[in-house]
Amino acid sequence: MGFIEIRHLKLIDTIEQVGTLNKAAERLYLTQSALSHQLKELEARLETKIFHRVNNKLVFTHSGKELRDASKEILKRLDVLEDKIHEINKDDIKDYIHGYSDEETIRLNDQADSISEILHWDSKWEKDALVLEAGCGVGAQTKIIAQMSPEASFISVDISSTSIEKAKFAIAKEKIGNVHFELADIFELPYPDGHFDHIFVCFVLEHLTRPMDALKELKRVLRSNGTITIIEGDHGSTYFHPDSENARKAVEAQVNLQKKKGGNANIGRELYPILSDAGFNGIKVSPRQVYVDDSKPKLKEGFIRNTFTAMIKGISEEVIAQKFIHRNELNSGITDLYNTAIDNGTFCYTFFKAKATKKVVS
Ligand SMILES: C[S@@+](CC[C@H](N)C(=O)[O-])C[C@H]1O[C@@H](n2cnc3c(N)ncnc32)[C@H](O)[C@@H]1O
Repeated sequence: MGFIEIRHLKLIDTIEQVGTLNKAAERLYLTQSALSHQLKELEARLETKIFHRVNNKLVFTHSGKELRDASKEILKRLDVLEDKIHEINKDDIKDYIHGYSDEETIRLNDQADSISEILHWDSKWEKDALVLEAGCGVGAQTKIIAQMSPEASFISVDISSTSIEKAKFAIAKEKIGNVHFELADIFELPYPDGHFDHIFVCFVLEHLTRPMDALKELKRVLRSNGTITIIEGDHGSTYFHPDSENARKAVEAQVNLQKKKGGNANIGRELYPILSDAGFNGIKVSPRQVYVDDSKPKLKEGFIRNTFTAMIKGISEEVIAQKFIHRNELNSGITDLYNTAIDNGTFCYTFFKAKATKKVVS
């Protein structure tokens, strides 16, 4: 067992399709010698010839024919399997409340940029550290943290391929060289135990139906004595002036929608207990309050308008359709939230940043 690998099946199938080793090498992006090497290796492993050359043509031997037919069948089944998994992934992420629109990309960047100092003044990792950023989205936080620790290396993963592509583009645009992006599910990370020195997670647990399982998987890939840093919001910490019942109802509608989708928009206050239940040690939670008034025009624009109120606007149709709030109440609530960003309005929201350690196994 284990003599035949998928690359061998692809090789045989491609040779069958294109008819010559030359063209097959081209199609598979291999050099001629790499292709010949793979063929010889397979023939040696199976102790058989796969082709004869007759008048400069490749003719499959008896064993070669068996291999050719099986390759076709197995590769077809793998295609079907990949399609199926792709569909399952799509189902898994279709419940993600904010979606993957261009407006959401802009909102995530506004969010990250407007409060970067408050959230990230201490997001630094040492030289040569390997850091996993789980749920990197469009790279809005990645570009900030990667530049703050230029001598560390980052592997940033997300379950959405669209977001990963946007993140790659954003990082290349900033000419940041210490980040590698990969498509991965936080519940089944494709890394061995203890692979990372540190882990960073921002605004992700609030969307997961099983945050504890995610934390356990993150703990698995973290080395002993490595740290995990988590930042989450808590919509229950929102208050503003002028106060507005409809604005509060609008925020509550978002909390309820997120709950219905299996998430928790008030998870910030639970970071200590869930990290503790997941077996982390030395947990320190630091509340990061964003307080905005007339003296902070950039935060009025970047946070109240473009981050928080844009988030409520973004889920409008869904909260109305789900009857969490009436359209008139929601529209008036959104107007009132915008009003907190004009003269003499104030706005408060608290994020929670937790840092914890994976205890040394003795
Ligand atoms: C609110 S966004 C936050 C993105 C980024 N951390 C930021 O702060 O800008 C949440 C991200 O979590 C990702 N996500 C959700 N479930 C995931 C899973 N099971 N595995 C990996 N990423 C996931 C979503 O695709 C989305 O990009």
